[in-house]
Amino acid sequence: MHPFTTTTSFLLTLLFCFHLTAPSPSNDINNLSNCNQTFSCGSLKNVTYPFTGGLRPSHCGPPEFGLTCDEDSVTILKDNSLSYRVTHLDQTSQTLRLSRSEFHGDSLCTLELTNSTLNSSIFDIDPSHETLSLFYRCDNINTSIIASDPMLRNFRFSCDIHGETEEGFYFISNPYFGYSSTDTIECKTSIQVPVLGSQAQQLLVNGSLVGEVLKEGFDVRYIDPYSADCTRCYKKHPGGYCGFDAQLGKPICICNDRLCPGKQKSLVFMSLVKLTGEIDERRFLSNYIMLH
Ligand SMILES: *[C@@H]1O[C@H](CO)[C@@H](O)[C@H](O)[C@H]1NC(C)=O
Ligand SMILES: *[C@@H]1O[C@H](CO)[C@@H](O)[C@H](O)[C@H]1NC(C)=O
Ligand SMILES: *[C@@H]1O[C@H](CO)[C@@H](O)[C@H](O)[C@H]1NC(C)=O
Ligand SMILES: *[C@@H]1O[C@H](CO)[C@@H](O)[C@H](O)[C@H]1NC(C)=O
Ligand SMILES: *[C@@H]1O[C@H](CO)[C@@H](O)[C@H](O)[C@H]1NC(C)=O
Ligand SMILES: *[C@@H]1O[C@H](CO)[C@@H](O)[C@H](O)[C@H]1NC(C)=O
Ligand SMILES: *[C@@H]1O[C@H](CO)[C@@H](O)[C@H](O)[C@H]1NC(C)=O
Repeated sequence: MHPFTTTTSFLLTLLFCFHLTAPSPSNDINNLSNCNQTFSCGSLKNVTYPFTGGLRPSHCGPPEFGLTCDEDSVTILKDNSLSYRVTHLDQTSQTLRLSRSEFHGDSLCTLELTNSTLNSSIFDIDPSHETLSLFYRCDNINTSIIASDPMLRNFRFSCDIHGETEEGFYFISNPYFGYSSTDTIECKTSIQVPVLGSQAQQLLVNGSLVGEVLKEGFDVRYIDPYSADCTRCYKKHPGGYCGFDAQLGKPICICNDRLCPGKQKSLVFMSLVKLTGEIDERRFLSNYIMLH
């Protein structure tokens, strides 16, 4: 038997007791239920980790993958302040088709003028996309130039904001590319929105399709930053579920609606190793039993 000093034994007992009575790190950590449920909404069916929403509580995945279901048919993904419709979701290829919710109204006149802000370390926009630039609140419009330029005429829209009419234009990719009348238009603000490459081609032929093109949206590949942790979780705990502790900002592994055993214990043992220099689990346990 490895001899322990009284001090070390006392410390170990203290530590073990503390471990048994320590409060759980976040409020709902003792009830991590329902991660075996799936998310279904409209045409999207049986969506699982990393996504949450509907029957899947927020502890079942990272916060970036939270979905909601509007009117039992429209799936919404929120990223920072922007809300996106999810019209397609493929968990095998890890792709989503997204379109900004505000473009599903009848006009381009979105009041919240923000560039698309998807977190690029998680959502990777398909490289075949094109960028649609929307220019708002344009002044000094020389109507005779607009009238004589079929492209400008085609790509013009107007917004009724608080009872006033404001002019706008949209362009694919390079704004104003190929237009001679650049100086004649001054716009106060602009946003850029990704669109499908194929849709951009159609838009060049028929500018009236802009509403449809924005509603169609764009494709992104998603990357779960915690997929390696998740693979480890399934491997170590068959029948377990991957989840996320939003308070600690860390992935978790869920067994029978609770944290899987192992993690917290190993933390205790790591502190023990620091305390005693060298110790293994079996020796600690036998000493623990001896002490009592
Ligand atoms: C756990 O929470 C769910 C709701 O998320 C609730 O329906 C269930 O009764 C809770 N279970 C326990 C054991 O508290
Ligand atoms: C999920 O697990 C609970 C027990 O934790 C079980 O009662 C329920 O039937 C399961 N649901 C599904 C859809 O598997
Ligand atoms: C979704 O899951 C249910 C129950 O497991 C199954 O009957 C159904 O075919 C699944 N739907 C799709 C589209 O995979
Ligand atoms: C993007 O996601 C990563 C991984 O979750 C996170 O570390 C980072 O803070 C996020 N960036 C922004 C701007 O939210
Ligand atoms: C509009 O453009 C035309 C042609 O370039 C020019 O002759 C006319 O003076 C311009 N009108 C205004 C109000 O700037
Ligand atoms: C959106 O991005 C473009 C290009 O980076 C920038 O010129 C424009 O000011 C941005 N719009 C807003 C509302 O931030
Ligand atoms: C352009 O698209 C609009 C809206 O879909 C349609 O009504 C119109 O017929 C199209 N014009 C041409 C020339 O294809």
